[in-house]
Amino acid sequence: MALGIQHLLGLYDVSRSDIELILDTADSFYEVLQREIKLVPTLRGKTIVNLFYESSTRTRISFELAEKRLSGSPINFSSTGSSVTKGETLKDTIRNIAAMKIDMVVVRHNAAGVPLFLTKCTDAIIVNAGDGFHEHPTQALLDMLTIRQHFGKLEGLKVAIIGDILHSRVARSDAWGMKTMGMNVTLCGPQTLMPLHTESLGVRITDNMGEAMEGADVVMLLRLQLERQQSGLFPSIREYRENYGLDLDKLLTLPEHTVIMHPGPINRGIELASNVADCGRSIILDQVTNGVAVRMAVLYLLGGGEPGGHEDV
Ligand code: CP
Repeated sequence: MALGIQHLLGLYDVSRSDIELILDTADSFYEVLQREIKLVPTLRGKTIVNLFYESSTRTRISFELAEKRLSGSPINFSSTGSSVTKGETLKDTIRNIAAMKIDMVVVRHNAAGVPLFLTKCTDAIIVNAGDGFHEHPTQALLDMLTIRQHFGKLEGLKVAIIGDILHSRVARSDAWGMKTMGMNVTLCGPQTLMPLHTESLGVRITDNMGEAMEGADVVMLLRLQLERQQSGLFPSIREYRENYGLDLDKLLTLPEHTVIMHPGPINRGIELASNVADCGRSIILDQVTNGVAVRMAVLYLLGGGEPGGHEDV
């Protein structure tokens, strides 16, 4: 059975069977990535444009690696250094790029809804690599792959996601995706960094970090978006660190099996103490490794690949 979606815009309405298919396919691409030659021919002849209007390290490099390891032809676009700096609109930019006959677009933009907008401007397949505060679906998929690899399952696991929920597209995609997969999600942060109408997310909400972490199998810290401090959304970094940062003392209160995650980039010494980020219970670099396998799976399946069809190559 192929995916029930044509584009990957978010996880809000992606079904459990589609998430399972992506994770299962990513597992087999993970095996490909352990080989000496990490290359399969499944996207040969396909051109993928990586359209980045915002900075990125992990997402951008892992998409490009995924495209190259699938034998696709990636083209990298940065808004800086392009005709966007001369005032060209997003619609004109995508229509001109599409006129050059491309197959897929991976887009990161600071405005929520841009991936959906692009589906109306081009026939190319659109993959959301992070849109404003809205969604970052491939991040949530790689988070779930990493958790499933570690625990052997997703159903019933308790995940505490702690930090600046208001501005976090990762928190939204994780909340929707993990809920669909039967996980128990708690979102925790200062009340001023919580979105309105959190009940629509359908997960547990608290402003108490100790309460959020109680019995958690996974504790995920989010980057404190320091640029928000100017807006007076929290009193001081010291107070934020005390109430919502994870240091060694707090780590020792967690069950021994609990693992630590972070989507990156980390503010070391704020949401995560350096010795916790680098400790044996941190699976942060596993998340990064899995980003390539998940993005290979998404591009392969959206590009028309049959489930399991790449396993013979
Ligand atoms: N997690 C994540 O999206 O990191 P980048 O901003 O570096 O891509």
